[in-house]
Amino acid sequence: MRRPILAANWKMHKTIAEAVAFAEAFRPLVADAAAEIVLAPPFTALAAVGRALAGSNVKLAAQNVHPEKQGAFTGEIAPPMLVELGCAYAIVGHSERRALFGESSAFVAQKAAALLAHDVLPIVCVGETLAEREAGRTFEILESQLMGSLVEVPPTRAADVVIAYEPVWAIGTGKTATPGIAQEAHAMIRAWLDKRFGAAAQRMRIQYGGSVKPENAAELMAQPDIDGALVGGASLDPSSFARIAKFEENAK
Ligand code: 13P
Repeated sequence: MRRPILAANWKMHKTIAEAVAFAEAFRPLVADAAAEIVLAPPFTALAAVGRALAGSNVKLAAQNVHPEKQGAFTGEIAPPMLVELGCAYAIVGHSERRALFGESSAFVAQKAAALLAHDVLPIVCVGETLAEREAGRTFEILESQLMGSLVEVPPTRAADVVIAYEPVWAIGTGKTATPGIAQEAHAMIRAWLDKRFGAAAQRMRIQYGGSVKPENAAELMAQPDIDGALVGGASLDPSSFARIAKFEENAK
């Protein structure tokens, strides 16, 4: 059984004060949640949110990382710095980083490997654009992103990697993939992981991301290969993200 993982990607939202206020309001709302719950605030708020979550069942994630341990990389953050902050996870290869900051799958692969070496678990994002989907290239694009981004992950560590399938056309658009469309992509991703990693693929969690809301979370999570969600806009409000994190209650 794969334990669902619901992660909030706040992107470039929330000051330290706002992030701490969220964490304090949020933690009691999900104290009895069955799923694994993760918050990814901006770097500036990681320390304070980590303190506000101490002793709770909510884990901390970074939104990015640089593969090197230290060095002349102005503006970047190294894996040991995330370890010191108590980050359990870090998101890598988000489509915004790929599209707006020119990150290649090869660079994402280096980041994922560096995170694993420091026991910070990578959430590796993949996803096709609308033009790619309309051209019938969805699976080809996903395969090439998976192959490139996971090239440095040995099968022995595969189960420590979370994949986030985020169709670019569904991010921030209010256009959620239907459960059927999402499941089809997740099943293809699982089949690829199976070819690449063997039995470990059954233990790897694949999150869906793209306009996940309290209203559609349960239906998406009910799909056999959807093991959680990576949530942007609807994760900025504590009660909204708590309803997503406790999606089983909406299913009843
Ligand atoms: P939205 O939930 O705002 O569509 O964002 C999805 C996303 O990019 C999460 O990483």
